[in-house]
Amino acid sequence: MTRRRRIYEGKAKVLFEGPEPGTLVQYFKDDATAFNNQKKGVITGKGVLNNRISEYLMSRLSEIGVPTHFMRRLNMREQLVREVEIIPIEVVVRNVAAGSLSRRFGIPEGTPLPRSIIEYYYKSDELGDPMVSEEHITAFGWAAPQDLDDMVALSLRVNDYLSGLFLGIGLKLVDFKLEFGRLWENEEMRIVLADEISPDNCRLWDVKTNEKLDKDRFRQDLGRVEEAYQEVARRLGILPEGGPSDVKGPKTLQ
Ligand code: TMP
Repeated sequence: MTRRRRIYEGKAKVLFEGPEPGTLVQYFKDDATAFNNQKKGVITGKGVLNNRISEYLMSRLSEIGVPTHFMRRLNMREQLVREVEIIPIEVVVRNVAAGSLSRRFGIPEGTPLPRSIIEYYYKSDELGDPMVSEEHITAFGWAAPQDLDDMVALSLRVNDYLSGLFLGIGLKLVDFKLEFGRLWENEEMRIVLADEISPDNCRLWDVKTNEKLDKDRFRQDLGRVEEAYQEVARRLGILPEGGPSDVKGPKTLQ
C-alpha cells in the first residue's frame, strides 16, 4: 500500500495508481465521518465489509446493464476500478422521508414519499456540499444536460433494482447517494456509476422493525454500528462464515 502512487485520499477511501493505465486501486478505510467531517470515528471492519458489499452491488448492477467503474475486488480492502473523471455532483434518491429531507420540510422520518425524489448536491467540503438544482449544474458547467439526463436515468434504474434486491432480504432502501464519472473509450465518453454503494451512503431499515442498519447508527450514536454493517453483508449472503471461499448469493426471507 505504501509503494504505489497515491492519487487521492478521501474521508473513507484512498485511490492509488492502478497496475495498468486507466485503472485505479480503491482502498476502503475504517474511518467514518459525518456532518461534513465534524464528527469523526472508526468503525472497525467497515472497510472490509464495504469493499465486499460494493463489489456485490456494483456487479449485480453491471449484470442488468448499468455501466460502473468497478472491475474486480483485489483483496480484503481493495478493488480495481476504471479511472474516471468524477462529476462533482452527489445524486441522492429518496423513497422514504429521513435525514436532511425530514429536517428541511418537517416530515417525520419513515413517511413514504409520494414518488421517488432526486436531489443534487455540489461536492465541496469547503461549502458543506450545498444542494443545487439542474440549472446550477448546467450553468456552472459541472455536467452537460445530456450527462445529467444519463445520471438521472441511471439513478432511477439503480433505485428500482436495489429497492427490489434489498426488499428480498428484508431491508427497505430509504435513500442513497450515488456518484458518477466520465469514462472515455475510443474517443467516446460514457457516464458510469463510480465511488461505492454501501451502508455508508444508503439508508437501510429492517422491513419489520424499522431498525436502522446503516451509517445513521454512527451519525446518531445508536451503538452496534459494526454489527449493522455485518448484518447487511450477512443478509446479502456475502459475509464469509467459513472463510473467504464461503461466498453465496442472497438469502431471501421466507
Ligand atoms: P441526507 O438525508 O443526510 O441528505 O442523506 C441522504 C442520503 O445520502 C443518505 O443515504 C446518506 C447519503 N449521504 C452520503 O452518502 N454522503 C453525504 O455526504 C450525505 C450528506 C449523505
